[in-house]
Amino acid sequence: MLSDIKIAVLMGGPGSERQVSLASGKAVLNALLSLGLDAVPVDVTGTEIALPAGTGLCFNVIHGTFGEDGRLQEILDAEGTPYTGARADSSRRAFDKSLAKQAFLAADVPTPRSEVIDCSNGPVMPSFPAPFVVKPPREGSSVGIEIVKTQMKAEAAIAKAANHSKDLLIEEFISGPELTVPVIDGKAYPVVHIIPPEGVYDMAAKYPWLSGTQGSQYICPADLDLETTKAVQAAAVAAHHALGIEVYSRVDVMLGADNRPYVLEANTIPGMTETSLLPKSAAAAGLSFPELCKLIAEISLKS
Ligand SMILES: Nc1ncnc2c1ncn2[C@@H]1O[C@H](COP(=O)(O)OP(=O)(O)O)[C@@H](O)[C@H]1O
Ligand SMILES: [Mg+2]
Repeated sequence: MLSDIKIAVLMGGPGSERQVSLASGKAVLNALLSLGLDAVPVDVTGTEIALPAGTGLCFNVIHGTFGEDGRLQEILDAEGTPYTGARADSSRRAFDKSLAKQAFLAADVPTPRSEVIDCSNGPVMPSFPAPFVVKPPREGSSVGIEIVKTQMKAEAAIAKAANHSKDLLIEEFISGPELTVPVIDGKAYPVVHIIPPEGVYDMAAKYPWLSGTQGSQYICPADLDLETTKAVQAAAVAAHHALGIEVYSRVDVMLGADNRPYVLEANTIPGMTETSLLPKSAAAAGLSFPELCKLIAEISLKS
């Protein structure tokens, strides 16, 4: 029983999404406390974790590096401490966009055409022309992502992205709209339509409160017809399963000019502030933020 155990809310982390994670952690901690549960905050600053004595469950909201890439999960597995969300293998697979791409292709999950290029000896051009998107495969929060609209800008963009990683994922540009779909316990939640101020959902558009920029607009449930909604939700669930994700994820999907869904990625530690996208979608399905936190904790303990 959740009410009998001590829950350590793991937040912060050593990566570039530290500030966002601290906000998620604070929100989850308050939600668990509001339910009368025994929850304590743990600010993780490096790649080691010291848990309070008697911790029965770690509620992990460390986004990106260390918390989302499978490393934290491996440590907790070795200690035998239960934690929320995806296990080590599926976390690693979901976090690495190239590994995820292979899993999507093997399971026939619709995803943009792509190619991995090796830039260890300088920029390399993909075999298909612009427009395309250049992605360092193991970063979150749009870090290092370059949208290349014209061939002329390709080489500079690839050289810039290569500062983050020598292997790069090049993906066909999908026109959008941009959507995201939570999947909890194999079930798709209402689709969120994201409208970034300048077309690209980058760091500034994701976290205006961090950068003082104009925020994005969100519509949930998304203004799509029933057939498209079902296709988008089916693609999200298929992506979640293709990666072998346990418990929950938030799957980023774009609609192409053909009105078909294309899966970009699955986030295994999505934002958990009260205004984040997973909580927004859960609210549209009638689930309050504390109820959502409780559901995630309960399913995690069972799986
Ligand atoms: N193939 C694509 N076509 C068009 N835009 C894309 C494409 N891939 C990514 N983007 C844009 O870049 C953002 C970040 O990409 P994503 O793959 O979700 O990585 P992450 O969120 O981990 O940085 C997306 O939310 C979208 O705005
Ligand atoms: Mg994303």
